[in-house]
Amino acid sequence: MGIGGRKQGVRRRQLGAVALGWCAATAWMAGCRAQPKLTAQQAEGQMLFHERCLHCHGENDLNLKPAPPEIRGVLLRAKLPDGEPATDLEVMRVVLNGKNKMPPFAGRFTEPQMQALLAFLRTRSD
Ligand code: HEC
Repeated sequence: MGIGGRKQGVRRRQLGAVALGWCAATAWMAGCRAQPKLTAQQAEGQMLFHERCLHCHGENDLNLKPAPPEIRGVLLRAKLPDGEPATDLEVMRVVLNGKNKMPPFAGRFTEPQMQALLAFLRTRSD
């Protein structure tokens, strides 16, 4: 290996350091943008939402028309998309009974899971 080779090695190491720094910087920026830290209950609700609801409410993987409304944080709003008051009871009713193209989830959530889901829908997190 000549002098040139050694130089290249050094340059590669410097690049590595730059890449590392960049990752740390972007991670830090992502952290800044990140939503408020969730409680364990809210985080469980978020997981359930991502598993059971997001593929429709967000990704609309069934290509429904009109697309299912955005409902993250819905319990911080005054009203549900259909104009009913945005209350725990109303959301629970929709989830358990379904609505038009939304299927009923009766029997699919335990009581603590339902409470977790509602807790998540009371956050600004996505
Ligand atoms: C198969 C797709 C689908 C899935 C899965 C789904 N939804 Fe829906 N959801 C819809 C559609 C479509 C509407 C609009 C219903 C309407 O008003 O006609 C809706 C409406 C809603 C509304 C607003 C109701 C209103 O009165 O305005 C809430 C709240 C809601 N869904 C919550 C959830 C939650 C929570 C989950 C997961 C447990 C979920 N949905 C899963 C399709 C879905």
